[in-house]
Amino acid sequence: MFKKIFLFLLFIILFFLTSSTKNLSLSTTSSTLEDEFLKSISQYKSFNPEMIDLYYQEYLLNHNLVLSLNKINVPDFFNRQNMFPSFTFEGGPFVNKNYYLTKNFIPDDLVPVTISKVNRKNEVMLINKTALTYAKLLFEDAKKEGMNLVVFSAYRSYIKQENLYQQANNKNYVAKAGFSEHQTGLAIDIATLDTGLTSYFEKTREYEYLTTHAHLFGFIKRYPKDKNTITKYPYEAWHYRFVGPELAKIIYEHNMTLEEYIYTYVALN
Ligand code: DAL
Ligand code: ZN
Repeated sequence: MFKKIFLFLLFIILFFLTSSTKNLSLSTTSSTLEDEFLKSISQYKSFNPEMIDLYYQEYLLNHNLVLSLNKINVPDFFNRQNMFPSFTFEGGPFVNKNYYLTKNFIPDDLVPVTISKVNRKNEVMLINKTALTYAKLLFEDAKKEGMNLVVFSAYRSYIKQENLYQQANNKNYVAKAGFSEHQTGLAIDIATLDTGLTSYFEKTREYEYLTTHAHLFGFIKRYPKDKNTITKYPYEAWHYRFVGPELAKIIYEHNMTLEEYIYTYVALN
């Protein structure tokens, strides 16, 4: 009889123990790593408590809180079908095929381009002030090595981009109005006078120099070769985007696109 009661009680205890283990979620465990993880990840605005276990599974694989949040919250980031307003990260506004600027967005820190450029008639070419400071240093450094870089385009207003898109023969290379980085004032098309914005630019010393030095001055090659499935634009040897030297270094050294940088280091809402 006692043996039966003992076995019954043992069964009950085991039942509760196993069922409580099954329901164990991060919020009820106490290991240091998990506590630390929960404390850190819950500080982010995009943190959703219901997704905690999924975030943690990701975190165990990549050890990156932001990437874990983004992978669970925005799994379709590289394949989005919808459009979203641009947001600002450390490197300025993020603009691509899915993130747009409004028609009335005009950057407030534009200044005339005062480095070697090809100007269109009756037009003052403008650019972001900080981007110009760094571009000047880049152009001077190239000059010391006997190379002549030339700006073909910098800031473009919404209206200007709209006209450009309408007139373009190959629309693959031109963003729709609102979806161009040129509207931020931080994008710059650089080539040589001889080649202009053509594939011949890739055969020049200036091209080699830009490819290996632009990041030192805060610029990234925005639409690299073999990354068109990510950027959704064909290779553009001339289109550079200013993000500042710190970010440009990370992006260059990891052979990333801006999209990959954002997904890895900027928590998306
Ligand atoms: N050529 C780039 C994609 C632009 O139009 O902004
Ligand atoms: Zn461009």
